[in-house]
Amino acid sequence: MRDKPSKYYVTTPIYYVNDKPHIGHSYTTILADVLASYHRLLGVPTHFLTGTDEHGQKVQQAADANGITPQEQCDQTVVRFQELWKRLEIKNDDFIRTTEERHKTVVQQTLQELFDRDEIYKAEYEGWYCVGCERFFTEKDLVEGNCPECGRKVDSIVESNYFFRMSKYQDWLIDYIESNPGFIQPSFRANETLGFLKNKELQDLCISRPKSRLEWGIELPFDAEFVTYVWFDALINYISAVGYKSDEEQFKKWWPCSTHLIGKDILTTHTVYWPTMLKAMNVEMPESIFAHGWWLTGRTKMSKSLGNVVNPMDMIDSYGVDAFRYFLVAEMTLGQDASFTEEAFVKRYNADLANDLGNVTNRVLNMISRYCDGKVPSATKGEFDTELEDALWKEAVAVADEMGSMISDMKLDASVARVMTVVRKINVYLQERAPWSLAKQEGTERQIAYSLYTAAECLRVCAALLYPVMPEKMAALRTALGMADAKPQLGKLSEFGGLVAGTEISQPGALFPRIEPNKVEATSSSLPPKKGKRERDVVSSKKKSDGAVASTKDGLITFDQVMAVNLKTAVVLEAEKIDGADKLLKLQVDLGDEKRQLVAGIALHYKPEELVGKTIVVVANLKPAKLRGVKSEGMLLAASLGDSLKLVTVEGELGPGASVK
Ligand code: MSP
Repeated sequence: MRDKPSKYYVTTPIYYVNDKPHIGHSYTTILADVLASYHRLLGVPTHFLTGTDEHGQKVQQAADANGITPQEQCDQTVVRFQELWKRLEIKNDDFIRTTEERHKTVVQQTLQELFDRDEIYKAEYEGWYCVGCERFFTEKDLVEGNCPECGRKVDSIVESNYFFRMSKYQDWLIDYIESNPGFIQPSFRANETLGFLKNKELQDLCISRPKSRLEWGIELPFDAEFVTYVWFDALINYISAVGYKSDEEQFKKWWPCSTHLIGKDILTTHTVYWPTMLKAMNVEMPESIFAHGWWLTGRTKMSKSLGNVVNPMDMIDSYGVDAFRYFLVAEMTLGQDASFTEEAFVKRYNADLANDLGNVTNRVLNMISRYCDGKVPSATKGEFDTELEDALWKEAVAVADEMGSMISDMKLDASVARVMTVVRKINVYLQERAPWSLAKQEGTERQIAYSLYTAAECLRVCAALLYPVMPEKMAALRTALGMADAKPQLGKLSEFGGLVAGTEISQPGALFPRIEPNKVEATSSSLPPKKGKRERDVVSSKKKSDGAVASTKDGLITFDQVMAVNLKTAVVLEAEKIDGADKLLKLQVDLGDEKRQLVAGIALHYKPEELVGKTIVVVANLKPAKLRGVKSEGMLLAASLGDSLKLVTVEGELGPGASVK
């Protein structure tokens, strides 16, 4: 593990309040939250800033279109961001709005200081202006006469304006980026900025807009005819929020920022404008600026103007907050683009969360209930071999140790994937150690206890490492494991013995009930799911974490646990014997919208031909398994008494695919 930083200050871009937030905005904010949470749990003093960018043409235009004032536009939209962050379990330390006095004052003081030092001057400007990007371009910049950034039409403009002497910092900036390799990340983005700086003469930056054209902005302190260019205003939020020019002690505590998280579309503003502004202001550079890729719909950037956005609220309503956070972090290789589809979401959810993590949690907790009286067993070695346990624990320690460097290298997706490999290893370990077989032998109590303690300890480590991504579910898992504190301390993870022997465990219900993929409409078109549509298929996270902690000691299970089993009617299409397996039959069944193969131990009770055409009841969300080498994708229900066995069927003509409740 790398050395802990002495403090951690992370920011998101401040979001425009011209429209409601979408997945792109959620993604950056979730990333920042995961990073902040990780550092807090390590005991590092942490500050996480997000907020809204409330000035400029976009906001004014949105206000005009909505028939309200720009301030009303800001006040109405900011709430949508704040509400979404609350629902997404975002724990930001501060939220800055650029219309707040604490920010406006700093912007004006900065402008005045730079003007007094001749870093800002007035000049007549003739050029091309892109309204969408709110940026000026020279004739040479244009691509086929259009904006080089967004490709839209540009307007010819001649006007007096104020300029920041950005061009004079060109050589300094090239040198700074080259001698500080971690400054712009990933490194290919640093190369992108360097390419731009080396191939083009940097222009001075126009930092004003005449009020005759745009009124909604911070007035220049030295010329009341002008407002400040929105980017010059917005970037300053990163320092105005932490006490620049207002609270020296606070500023010293947090600045320089550890990581500015941004999307790749705002690379130039953050890696050219911002560093040169800071240089002119004699303020230290941020430690790093990390640009992530875009969430795409097909191959196109998801954006409001293209009308292809996925509403995060819909995803949360359908699948729960933690699953949504997990998907966004796990699915996108940080730095690259990724495509968002609901099918990909369901696939990953079922594979990682329902099957792997959910399954291992159930197995460990159920076995502790059954074999250890529902209490965390004590782990004392004895006259038995612990090679498998030692190897498993070593894996858990290794992932805990690697986490620090993966986080500082911004490999968030890889870190989650690495934890999931340990989750899978716990499953494999349980299969190999088979405590249920040990339980059939005399004198194995201590070995079973040691085995289940080790598995539970490894699960504790995984839950702690996944806590920053899935705070609600991992807190529920820790509580189920009998941990007194729902929040983990990451610094102490690698000490064997975190779980206290004798503490009662509890059953959290199905943490991640499986989602039936066939119930998800084709969404490669990215249409968001309708609100609440799949609430029946996935028990809402709230419901699950709230109640549902029923002990199995009394042999009872919770409603959620029952609801997690997906029973469906199926019609038998074909049935045949399996060579070499007297008791097994292989069935092809129709589940309504899909066909499946089942292997059932009913050959001594039914002839294959008797089964064809029967409507039976099947557990449809059982993890596929192989029986005698033959794949079985579900389990049929049958009632047995003594030697007789009868299939569970339904009365009347219901057909396949009906849900059995
Ligand atoms: N207000 C400026 C930022 C000023 S920071 C001093 C801005 N706002 S924004 O609301 O348009 O975008 C904010 C962030 O959301 C950007 O980092 C942008 O990259 C990100 N995303 C917007 N759409 C996105 C995707 N489809 N995918 C991922 N992130 C994207 O720019």
